[in-house]
Amino acid sequence: MNAWQGAVLREMGLAPLWRLRTGKPAAEAEAAPATAEPSRPTSATSAAFATSAAARASISPSPGSPPSPPPRAQIPRPPAIQAAAPPPVSAPAAPMIDAERAARIATLDWTQLEEEIRHCRACPLCERRQQAVPGVGDHAAQWMFVGEGPGAEEDQRGEPFVGQAGRLLDNMLAAIGLKRGENVYIANAVKCRPPHNRTPAEAEIAACQPFLERQIALVAPRLLIALGRPASQALVGRELNIGAARGKRFERKEIAVVVTYHPAYLLRNPQDKGKVWEDLCFARQVMKTETGQGA
Ligand code: URA
Repeated sequence: MNAWQGAVLREMGLAPLWRLRTGKPAAEAEAAPATAEPSRPTSATSAAFATSAAARASISPSPGSPPSPPPRAQIPRPPAIQAAAPPPVSAPAAPMIDAERAARIATLDWTQLEEEIRHCRACPLCERRQQAVPGVGDHAAQWMFVGEGPGAEEDQRGEPFVGQAGRLLDNMLAAIGLKRGENVYIANAVKCRPPHNRTPAEAEIAACQPFLERQIALVAPRLLIALGRPASQALVGRELNIGAARGKRFERKEIAVVVTYHPAYLLRNPQDKGKVWEDLCFARQVMKTETGQGA
């Protein structure tokens, strides 16, 4: 690990790595049924990550024990690119998918699409939203990150990932030299906040799918990064166990897809940040391959 990598790891709240890897693996929690726990941070864990400085503090060695460099063997290495099994032949459409509606949405330009999202009433999530949250960023981005759905702050402000999880996502982007809005587009699987921040239902994801499809078609990214299970379901078309799907290259209509944990999951399970660092390194490697810059 060179000095630059060390600096970005610290900025992202990942250093020192030796400390991060001592916790009990919590991938099982991510793989638990969606209803087992809320998909947003608890107030206790949120408080611990209120700022990136606080995040760093929460994983730094206790006072008086200066950090020693990580043993080389424990530094996470990006795994080699491994192709995932292709998705099954498309599943029967969920009831809320209306083929005509989807076909019409597939013709919209950016302005029309965002307008349509803001006025959408295709599923019950519209009833309790303050506003729909279409997406944000560079319309010609090579990188597209897809989350789950807006939380309270996003619902208030109309922009994805502006709360606690968003600040962590910004740190994750910075760790691989990216910045919100610059060659990066950010969207969600569902555009309206699920009540009490619950995980969106499959039918709600399906109802929102034409919007995500159109966003992907308009951006035409080189790489899609699914943040958590609902996003990977929306992108890969089937439910994935994130722990098992990490480090694999999936594909969606010829666009590469990789998956990693959702930032909100990381707020609850900071010991898994090292895995996300590995996933981001893997994503960078896939991007290089996709853009012909070598791995
Ligand atoms: N979590 C998400 O998945 N998306 C957001 O926009 C905010 C939090």
